[in-house]
Amino acid sequence: MKIMVVGGGGREHAIIKKLAENSSVEKIYCLPGNGGIAADAECVPISSTDIPAIVSFAKDNAVDYAVVAQDDPLVMGCVDELNAVGVPCFGPDKKAAIIEGSKVFSKDFMRRNNIPTAEYEVFTDAEKALEYLETAKIPTVVKADGPALGKGALVCMTKDEAKNAVHEIMQDKKFGASGDRIVIEEFMTGPEVSVLSFTDGETVIPMVPSTDHKRAHDNDEGLNTGGMGTVAPSPYYTPEVHKQAMERIILPTVKAMKAEGRPFKGCLYFGLMITPEGPKVVEYNCRFGDPETQVVLPLLKSDLLNIMLATTNGNLKDVPVEFSDGAACCVIMASSGYPEKYEKGFEITIPDGLKSSVYVAGAKLDGNRLLTSGGRVLGVTACGKDLEEAVAEAYKKCEKISFENAYYRRDIGKKALEFLHRQRR
Ligand SMILES: Nc1ncnc2c1ncn2[C@@H]1O[C@H](COP(=O)(O)OP(=O)(O)O)[C@@H](O)[C@H]1O
Ligand SMILES: [Mg+2]
Repeated sequence: MKIMVVGGGGREHAIIKKLAENSSVEKIYCLPGNGGIAADAECVPISSTDIPAIVSFAKDNAVDYAVVAQDDPLVMGCVDELNAVGVPCFGPDKKAAIIEGSKVFSKDFMRRNNIPTAEYEVFTDAEKALEYLETAKIPTVVKADGPALGKGALVCMTKDEAKNAVHEIMQDKKFGASGDRIVIEEFMTGPEVSVLSFTDGETVIPMVPSTDHKRAHDNDEGLNTGGMGTVAPSPYYTPEVHKQAMERIILPTVKAMKAEGRPFKGCLYFGLMITPEGPKVVEYNCRFGDPETQVVLPLLKSDLLNIMLATTNGNLKDVPVEFSDGAACCVIMASSGYPEKYEKGFEITIPDGLKSSVYVAGAKLDGNRLLTSGGRVLGVTACGKDLEEAVAEAYKKCEKISFENAYYRRDIGKKALEFLHRQRR
């Protein structure tokens, strides 16, 4: 089989490495991929949002199956366009991808289907939003409706911050048309858990739960980032929480999407907050999370391609989906200064024995040399019998990988381990 993966970060690298384990895979293309992914797939310089070029490439190269891994092309309808020329895909069509593409859609969807989430109001008029903030409960959260490169959700600790957020999003149009509508929602508290799930529109199978570390620096200080490290399984997702999440959130979401004529096929990501009243939805994503995938897929024992094909063909209930009992930790090695200003172009050295543990996000090839080219450069994953072992192993591996200006958090998994220790006492 010839497979095409659309995207080019650590997530795509993890997907590609897992797909390659299936012996019927003869070729994997990655559009556009990156210098690190080039070791495991043929990277093709086509942007992940150039849908016509992606479709032509798939036709010209007789691609048998496409994995659209990134949010933007999914929301734009890449799957619909590929299906139209006969290329089956892993991933939701445009109608279903709206669950991530529009925060207003997803909030209204949850409200009408009684799925627990933060209370909220929608505004299309900045003046009305500002007026509402005069008496709103603070802290509050202001979110742009549409895609905003992961920067469209602003947690505001004061009224002034919230007003500023409204100005930036609705009046200065910081995120363009994505800010034509906003959601202002209740501030929730509790640990966050990402539950990625496979679904064929009917059956839904949650993967091992994980927890990301979004802030740039240790102890959850510094700016928000695309993610600085992940651990799985997330200890906050206890059997009790799982039961509640399945009954109140996961099963009802898949059922309601189907009932509303938007059956979701692919990976549906539940971003949950474990509040004192139980799990609530922070957001849905219509694809694998990055960097959650870099801990979830290494723990998957079953064949990824077979599962993906089953989500497309609608027979997920007949396919085994099993995860290892162990744990995994992924530490992101970034360019110092990220997510603000940073230097790049430095050579990356990865010992041969560690290449299988590394998922490259921001690097390019210069001849045979791999050079840093982004803020988040690569993820280093280790699996272990438990979280303690996985975390220790991941950090040992990080010490053996080097590039000038490398920066990584030293406390990935620390809070999760402390939580586990408290539970055991
Ligand atoms: N209602 C809320 N209460 C508390 N924190 C929130 C709330 N909504 C979002 N957040 C925080 O902001 C982050 C980003 O919000 P999210 O809705 O996931 O937007 P994005 O599309 O940027 O990922 C979340 O991971 C969470 O930490
Ligand atoms: Mg999010």
